[in-house]
Amino acid sequence: MNVEPLCNMPLLQSMYAETLRLYTSLFTLRSAPHGGLTVCDLTIPKDELIAVDSRVSAMDSSFWNTGATSTDNEGEHPINHYWAERFLVYPKDPTSGPLRFNASKPKFPAPDRSSHITGSEPHFTMDGLAGAWLPYGGGNRQCPGRNFAKYEIIRGFAIVLSMLDVELLDSDDVEPRKPDMKFYGLGTLPPKGKVPFRVRRRD
Ligand code: HEM
Repeated sequence: MNVEPLCNMPLLQSMYAETLRLYTSLFTLRSAPHGGLTVCDLTIPKDELIAVDSRVSAMDSSFWNTGATSTDNEGEHPINHYWAERFLVYPKDPTSGPLRFNASKPKFPAPDRSSHITGSEPHFTMDGLAGAWLPYGGGNRQCPGRNFAKYEIIRGFAIVLSMLDVELLDSDDVEPRKPDMKFYGLGTLPPKGKVPFRVRRRD
């Protein structure tokens, strides 16, 4: 199997990124070894343990695109639901892409939105997400296995689905697919409860 083109498919990359956004929870551990660190009005003393909770930014609906067009509506794709296309940019659609369109208070430097008007095919982007999408931690201690992991996740998914036809039952009911918070902070969050599906080998 030629993995490169497979792993570069925009929709598969977006599904992968959305899966890690919604179904992971971990703490990135740091300390300030050179002296107190001031963040907003808070000073963290030298050498104190700092735990950055990946879920806080992953579930911030004022930051992520939920399909909302103004601050007073939730959008069609709430932040606690899986949306396969959340990380896709559609040319000529400035409201597409992972960041909330017209966020009132940008949390990180705004990405270059010029890519919205070039090309004709949808593309995958992680622009502007460095401080918000944290399944692999961040900065210079970020997980060195992340590219390998991405390839293996997408490849494994493609192999399974090329051999098996999997049909989710009760597909309109998102309740059983909510992450199980019993595993908060421990890495992956499995679905809470049973997810009924029917499976058969492809001919
Ligand atoms: C979905 C899969 C994976 C996830 C979610 C994950 C997540 C993480 C996280 C959160 C860290 C800490 C990063 C930080 O402190 O900023 C880390 C570190 C690390 N990961 Fe992964 N990882 C994954 C797969 C892998 C794979 C496949 C490998 C090796 C082939 C790997 C090797 C490492 C190593 C060596 C470190 C320590 C890096 C250091 O301390 O400098 N990881 N990973």
